[in-house]
Amino acid sequence: MPVVTCIQDLKDLHRKRTPKMFYDYCESGSYTEQTFRENTSDFAQIRLRQKVAVDMSGRTTEGTMLGRKAAMPLALSPVGMTGMQRADGEIKAARAAAKFGVPYTLSTMSICSIEDVHAASPEPFWFQLYVMKDAEFVDAIVERAKRAQCSALVLTLDLQILGQRHKDLKNGLSAPPRLTLPNIVNMATKVQWGLEMLGTRRRFFGNIVGHAKGVSDAASLMTWTSEQFDPQLDWAKVARIRDQWGGKFILKGILDAEDARIAADFGADAIIVSNHGGRQLDGALSSIRMLPSILEAVGGRCEVYLDSGIRQGQDILKALALGATGTMIGRAYIHGLGAMGQQGVETALEILRKELDTSMALCGERDVANLRRGNLMIPKGFF
Ligand code: FNR
Repeated sequence: MPVVTCIQDLKDLHRKRTPKMFYDYCESGSYTEQTFRENTSDFAQIRLRQKVAVDMSGRTTEGTMLGRKAAMPLALSPVGMTGMQRADGEIKAARAAAKFGVPYTLSTMSICSIEDVHAASPEPFWFQLYVMKDAEFVDAIVERAKRAQCSALVLTLDLQILGQRHKDLKNGLSAPPRLTLPNIVNMATKVQWGLEMLGTRRRFFGNIVGHAKGVSDAASLMTWTSEQFDPQLDWAKVARIRDQWGGKFILKGILDAEDARIAADFGADAIIVSNHGGRQLDGALSSIRMLPSILEAVGGRCEVYLDSGIRQGQDILKALALGATGTMIGRAYIHGLGAMGQQGVETALEILRKELDTSMALCGERDVANLRRGNLMIPKGFF
């Protein structure tokens, strides 16, 4: 077994153990990938202020998100086709999150259905909704999320049209993969992945499959799905969904102070400052750069979670010190899943928690709740 010490190790194993089209799907951004790269390089520009001779005993990384205790202020972001990175990947990720004590978010575009995950997860999870043109589909899936007792609805606002990711087009991304010669050759080298995949029935989009009328195979299901994102999504539709849902409501994909103000006026319980991990508007600024202006616009009226670019516990520390209520990760846990299944997601979470804890201690802090701007050294003109 290779020794895993950081998220980069999990990423290397993920690349080795998962078919190329699914690894590439995870590890890519849209167009030139400028925003994808800057999500991580901007974190690196913020430095930490070391403090010595401070009592660092009795530390805690515990926080709360939407009023519930979490082992650290972090949740797993929704990731489409998680069940293609590893068989039943959504169930594995949900179980790892529950065991570790942080919220898991299931994507509309998951392979395992809401019902599959509800049956297998020991804890309630958040459900992420993409608004589709088919209003009946939206109504039905909101009702399914209610029946599965999802503890929050996460409405994603930054994907009414798909930002192009070149690798997905070149690889002919589909779920399950088409059996072309290059795909068969590539998959034959991913033994564990293949054995697990043969052992599951879940290989299509579990939330969508019954709704896509006239769709007969994976490729046409992919096309149907990508044509379904609603270009007419506006705040009136958001209000309709909020009222239908009636429970904890989170708006994901806010990257602008004015939008954040509207979202807070709207009564959202939380917003997620996100550029979709650099997968949508290439050229947008990183989430961490946008965070302070958004916090100011929100003025404490709802919780604010930072998502996009987190690869280390130090990044979590930086986001919290700037004032985020919590943080979210996508690729960091998907690398764990692709590397080692459920155990890999648990390893990713433990790595991040330890890095957060150690860095916090070396900054002279004992409680994540006490982190503040004074723990950071920020280059002039950064925000
Ligand atoms: C995503 N993301 C995403 N977001 C969403 O609301 N619904 C979805 O189905 C998906 N699907 C998806 C697939 C893959 C492969 C990735 C990498 C990301 C975006 C995700 O929720 C989150 O915003 C980003 O992953 C955060 O950036 P990092 O942590 O990956 O840098």
